[in-house]
Amino acid sequence: MHLAAFLNAGPQGTVGWRHPDAGDGFLTAAHYTRIARVLEGAGFDLAFVPDSLAVPRGLKDSFDPAVTWGTGTPRLDPIPVITLMAAATEHLGVAATVSTGYQEPFHVARSMATLDHLVGGRAGWNVVTSFQDAEAQNFGQDKLPARAARYARAEEFLEVTAQLWDSWADDAIVADKESGVFGRPDRVRAVDHRGERFAVRGPLSVPRPPQGYPVIIQAGASPAGRDFAARWADVVFCSHESLESAVAFYADVKARAAAHGRDPEQLKVLPAATTVVGTDLKDALAKHAEFTGLVHPEAGLSRLAYHVNVDLTRYDLDGPLPSLAEVGVEGHYREVVEFAEREKLSVREIGRWYGARTEGDMIGSASDIADTMEQWLDAGAADGFMIQATHVPAAFEEFAEQVVPELRRRGLVRTAHTGGTLRDNLGLARPGRDEWRRRARSAEGGRP
Ligand SMILES: Cc1cc2nc3c(=O)[nH]c(=O)nc-3n(C[C@H](O)[C@H](O)[C@H](O)COP(=O)(O)O)c2cc1C
Repeated sequence: MHLAAFLNAGPQGTVGWRHPDAGDGFLTAAHYTRIARVLEGAGFDLAFVPDSLAVPRGLKDSFDPAVTWGTGTPRLDPIPVITLMAAATEHLGVAATVSTGYQEPFHVARSMATLDHLVGGRAGWNVVTSFQDAEAQNFGQDKLPARAARYARAEEFLEVTAQLWDSWADDAIVADKESGVFGRPDRVRAVDHRGERFAVRGPLSVPRPPQGYPVIIQAGASPAGRDFAARWADVVFCSHESLESAVAFYADVKARAAAHGRDPEQLKVLPAATTVVGTDLKDALAKHAEFTGLVHPEAGLSRLAYHVNVDLTRYDLDGPLPSLAEVGVEGHYREVVEFAEREKLSVREIGRWYGARTEGDMIGSASDIADTMEQWLDAGAADGFMIQATHVPAAFEEFAEQVVPELRRRGLVRTAHTGGTLRDNLGLARPGRDEWRRRARSAEGGRP
């Protein structure tokens, strides 16, 4: 099974930084390189860094709650962070979140291609469309564009980015010292894209990445997001409130991939799993209770406002969750609805729960956690997991020291990396030149 780690380039989680065992080095290189080495030793395929392009203002249209409670802020630029992590390791894949909302495809194609070269084919890109008004307001817009417009932009963005990566053939550089010929212009081509949003002549100023395309990750849960993921993504991240919804999501995304003519095995689905490991279930539950006790109710509502882009304090705090038409992260909203309906929670109670909410709770002894993971794999809910640590680096170290040996004993996690690229680690084929035609919506019907 595949293992990814979810690691903020900043304090971990809304209350993780408050944990007595949490480190405070999130502004230092040593913090990230230490975690990278722990993950590599534990056989992880990759470390993934999420991102947000604003100090959240979801609550009371102010950044005060986010700063007061450390909700979604601060956030360092993930690219230098993952570059450091890759430099400190030999096999660990590293992925950064980059939004398609506010840059040009040329910038992102160049930066991801550069990274993939420098880290020997271990790079990944978590493609997001962003979800907060506060982000749009840092880039000349008043409001987050509607979901349909965000995904339409993402679609054209990926088409152009992939064509830029393909603009150099793999054998374009010859570097023949004797003749003085560096490259073969017949193996490099322009892009000449003129679309609704972007006009890009090309070629890219960086040769084709070692992996063809860096590993493309996506976490959209709306129908538009799933469809986009089914065509473009190599890895899908998700989070669920129950095994049933995870199974339904897995089947849906794989079916969408097949409908687009892709091999569903070439799309890996990794649900979030927050593990709290103890000597036995009682010990783990006590640890979890200690963790949830750290949350201030306003911090919880601040986190929820950040994720759904709606200020729930505008509604009756003792009333039920109102029905919301357009939310920021649809996946998180659905989980909140599922949990609130099941537990009959008021908005106030949802806030308290959400602040310490750890997606995909897996609480118990190492063997309990391994059992749950196996159950999810066998039920057809996952190809592996995205491990979210409650606090860092300690919870990753506990996972590596206590849970990973049990997973290895069961033959579920590798004992050593065999080398190669992140695609090799994940069992993903290297895309040939012009793979973009197979994935792009605009090329539907005209696929080679
Ligand atoms: C597990 C998970 C992690 C995510 N990480 C990020 C992130 O780091 N940055 C971001 O802008 N969006 C992130 N998102 C949001 C989505 O990628 C997506 O852009 C957003 O959910 C809107 O699409 P949707 O409505 O189709 O879900 C994440 C979503 C999930 C479920």
